[in-house]
Amino acid sequence: MTTRAAMKSWQSLQSHAQQMKQHHMNELFTNDDQRFDKFSVQLPSMLLDYSKNLITDDTMAKLIALAKECEVEAWREKMFNGERINSTEERSVLHTALRNRSNKAIVVDDVDISTCVQNTLDKMQVFSDKIRQGLWQGYSGKRITDVVNIGVGGSNLGPQMVTEALKQYSDNSVNVHYVSNVDGTQIAEVLRPLNPEKVLFIVSSKTFTTTETMTNANTAMKWLVASSFDQSAIGKHFVAVSSNKENAVRFGIAEENIFDMWDWVGGRFSLWSAIGLPIAIDLGFDKFIELLEGAEQLDQHFCQTPLEQNAPVILALLSVWNCTFMGAQSQAILPYDQSLHMLSAYMQQAEMESNGKSVTWHGDEINYSTVPSIWGELGINGQHAFYQYLHQSNNIVPADFIGSVESVTPVIGHHETLMSNFFAQTQALMEGVDEQQVRADLKAKGRTQEYINKVAPHKVHKGNRPTNTLLMERISPHTIGSLIALYEHKIFVQGVLLQICSFDQWGVELGKGLANKIQQELENGELNINHDSSTYGLIKYYKTIRAN
Ligand code: F6P
Repeated sequence: MTTRAAMKSWQSLQSHAQQMKQHHMNELFTNDDQRFDKFSVQLPSMLLDYSKNLITDDTMAKLIALAKECEVEAWREKMFNGERINSTEERSVLHTALRNRSNKAIVVDDVDISTCVQNTLDKMQVFSDKIRQGLWQGYSGKRITDVVNIGVGGSNLGPQMVTEALKQYSDNSVNVHYVSNVDGTQIAEVLRPLNPEKVLFIVSSKTFTTTETMTNANTAMKWLVASSFDQSAIGKHFVAVSSNKENAVRFGIAEENIFDMWDWVGGRFSLWSAIGLPIAIDLGFDKFIELLEGAEQLDQHFCQTPLEQNAPVILALLSVWNCTFMGAQSQAILPYDQSLHMLSAYMQQAEMESNGKSVTWHGDEINYSTVPSIWGELGINGQHAFYQYLHQSNNIVPADFIGSVESVTPVIGHHETLMSNFFAQTQALMEGVDEQQVRADLKAKGRTQEYINKVAPHKVHKGNRPTNTLLMERISPHTIGSLIALYEHKIFVQGVLLQICSFDQWGVELGKGLANKIQQELENGELNINHDSSTYGLIKYYKTIRAN
């Protein structure tokens, strides 16, 4: 296989990047009044404007040539057809099958998985309806009022982010809580106000081996049994979502209370599966289906649209352009919608766990920079915290601005203030303001020459900072489904372009293994003298203080 460095399109982008660094977006906008029309894509319920990137027609043509040379279309087909593109784990990657609403047969290992998906959806529907209608009762015959989802990483971030994003669509017939941290503070705080007779726990773990989740589930079980004095209460208060039925049963969860997961769904892409059960309980099953439909609509866009207008492909190409070729090291996710306050945390796992790697599919060292670190915050809050850095630091941080035309909770006067900032920020990041203008403005305000000389350099904004703008019509189950699927496919294409196996996560294993050994040392064993002196010293200090 040709290395990326040996590819014509790659080499051409490398030299093109050197030329583009001499340009400013202001000049590109001045010279081309078609820029917005050319560099924006209308999706069914949102608009993507990527014109505020340091790109020209030539850049986009070269990027599309790269996508073609990297065979993005063939890879897309492999993924949707269930080929084992998660090569290091020898698994298919079929989260898209979870939202295949046409029920088209998808065969993996001679099994039509669309039937398994539908069966699990049916079970989710029956179960979520029962909980919501008060037909599922706890050990003392009371209806369930609170559901606590216990899970971490993909078994937490996706459903919690969506629950938060769609809060306004909940009828609050059940309260949904999330516990992910093994720090006992979280579960203690969640459980404190709850009545065990009315709580249902969902233990969400694809592997059913994750220490944090097992620890929290054990604590929850003890809490329940301490109240009911009856082990059999577990059957009425615990369900699990897992692909490891054996472990879930061994843990004490009744087989009929286990919702299937499959090894062809990656944890960080799993909210469309029964991992989304808390969403269905919170919003109602029909809204969960709308979420799936929104994602499916984006899947169709991804599969059917030419690369030149294909939103996830464009986002992936721009990320590679800005980071690999232009040298940006991080990327900000900046939602201007309160309901999306967990979006950047979700995106961190989605992109960084997928593509934060440094060898190719074949295990060869990668000698170009791959994905940026992802970070972010609600836009408005960020403006009063770290936007200073975005505007004036020497590090260029490409940013995705995400907002909605209509607010789901309109309060007079608020939305226009919010959105005027949304539009102003990308304009400011792009245009900047030069010293000549700064001086003229200060002079017009009657400032002294001495003051102008002192302050002017500090007020210069160089601009030329790349942003994408995603403007949704309105937050809804449908648009949130599309938004998440858009980024999922972006991440997949990014992996193809960078030759990364996006669907494994070996990098989390080393720390997990060491933690297991250290836990034994903390709980009872001797201190391991073979630790490096730093780790040894820290554990020794910890044990000494704990012992006193
Ligand atoms: O931390 C790694 C990871 O394996 C994630 O990829 C995954 O989403 C999370 O842990 C939780 O895993 P599980 O659902 O198996 O408990």
